Amino acid sequence: MNTLLEKILADCARYTKEGQPASYIPELAKVDPDKFGIFVSAEDGKEYFAGDYTDRFTMQSVVKPLILLQALMDSDTETVRALVGMEATGKPFDAFNYSDQALTGAHINPMINTGAIALCTLIQGSNYQDKFSRLLNLTRRLADNPKLEVNHAVYMSEKMTGNKNRALAYMLKAYGMISAPVEDVLDCYFQACSISVSCKDLARIAHIFANHGVHPVTGEQLFPAGYAKYVNATLATCGMYDGSGEFALNVGFPAKSGVGGGIMGVIPRRMGIGVFAPALDKHGNSVAGMQALAELSKELDLSIY
Ligand code: DON
Repeated sequence: MNTLLEKILADCARYTKEGQPASYIPELAKVDPDKFGIFVSAEDGKEYFAGDYTDRFTMQSVVKPLILLQALMDSDTETVRALVGMEATGKPFDAFNYSDQALTGAHINPMINTGAIALCTLIQGSNYQDKFSRLLNLTRRLADNPKLEVNHAVYMSEKMTGNKNRALAYMLKAYGMISAPVEDVLDCYFQACSISVSCKDLARIAHIFANHGVHPVTGEQLFPAGYAKYVNATLATCGMYDGSGEFALNVGFPAKSGVGGGIMGVIPRRMGIGVFAPALDKHGNSVAGMQALAELSKELDLSIY
């Protein structure tokens, strides 16, 4: 398997030259665009890897499934469902051109910025720092990595420049979808996006979603199976934004991308995959990462469709 992963990275390395690392968060533009790593947490709990799989990058939108999971664990499914809908928007992750006169839950989903910002309010905690700490602890637990921390430089960079997210959050507030102070909610969201991980962390988190909440090695049920199905279904339809349909066709399993260059792939009942390559396409998805996942999917027959 490691040989297969190495071959896939070699085959797909040329795609690291296509696309560009994100620059709208200035700190993200500093990354080396040639980085490329992959990690697989497989059926038997065995782990396989190649390339820059220990390199660290920020989760960015890959944290959205964890925000959704924490909101499900801390509120009930109906409350989550009432605040944030389920349908693919077919629009960019930070779109604000909702055509109706009022913004409602039906217009958004948990994998776009408005949905994830709104869901931060459903995490338990007496203030937004507490809410973020709960989310960080959940992320550490699922990744089996107590050392996960926020990349402070990326967090500050996004906090200083994230005016579009501020606009989106004020729109949520204007339409009564959040009531808390916007800056507090955004602080939780920006810190969440800035959690620093490796491909290995993403693969381990993905494997638990794939196993419907059960840790693949210890057998412990870490969260209810129904929540994993909720998250996985959302990833399948909306995880790659307005590239989700094409990804379903070319790769064929639930996945979540982030503008840090990471993609987390969930193959239900089989395995979790983490891949990292920072050059992005126009949707904000890693070009080489998607190619590597497409090739691995073909080799191991991973499409669920
Ligand atoms: O809110 C943002 O714009 C970023 N922190 C995350 C966006 C993102 O990762 C979209 N992904 N492909």
